[in-house]
Amino acid sequence: MNEPSLIPSSIREVQFGEDVKIVEPVNLYECSIGNNCFVGPFVEIQKGVVVGDNTKIQSHSFICELVKIGDGCFIAHGVMFINDVFGSGGPAGGDLSKWRSTLIGNNVSIGSNATILPVNICDNVVIGAGAVVTKDIDLPGIYAGNPAKLLRKL
Ligand SMILES: CC(C)(COP(=O)(O)OP(=O)(O)OC[C@H]1O[C@@H](n2cnc3c(N)ncnc32)[C@H](O)[C@@H]1OP(=O)(O)O)[C@@H](O)C(=O)NCCC(=O)NCCS
Repeated sequence: MNEPSLIPSSIREVQFGEDVKIVEPVNLYECSIGNNCFVGPFVEIQKGVVVGDNTKIQSHSFICELVKIGDGCFIAHGVMFINDVFGSGGPAGGDLSKWRSTLIGNNVSIGSNATILPVNICDNVVIGAGAVVTKDIDLPGIYAGNPAKLLRKL
């Protein structure tokens, strides 16, 4: 019988601020997590990600390389970030020039099961559950749907 290669999840080379709480298991590596943050179980945060202070990341979310998240944000359960849009017909693989970045401002709440393509989102925004954010958001407000549209200004 064949045996798979097992790579254990881990917390490796993470720069933590003060008073960070983590519920294991998580896979966090080569990223930075600010003061007073919370990270729930089954979260992966990849290399180079920066998470600001007082931000909560709930279980089952995936935060990929090239994502920056500001202060006071709430990333609900199962939020997926994307850096490779398969724009050339499939995964870009190791060709980092094809990966794109995402910038989330301060006080941004992202509802459960939302998908965030490579975009910039300004401060003071709410993204509804299940939304697919395909374009930059420059105006504070509540956005929902696929593709996400403004429901109302805040
Ligand atoms: C987007 C959201 C903030 C809107 O809340 P709200 O301002 O109270 O909006 P309403 O419930 O009054 O709905 C307004 C309209 O948007 C629609 N809508 C609400 N949430 C939606 C969503 N997530 N996706 C698509 N449409 C949505 C409603 O159907 C309604 O449509 P209508 O005007 O055609 O009837 C909220 O519904 C939401 O999705 N919150 C995420 C919460 C979450 O994930 N929490 C995680 C922690 S447990």
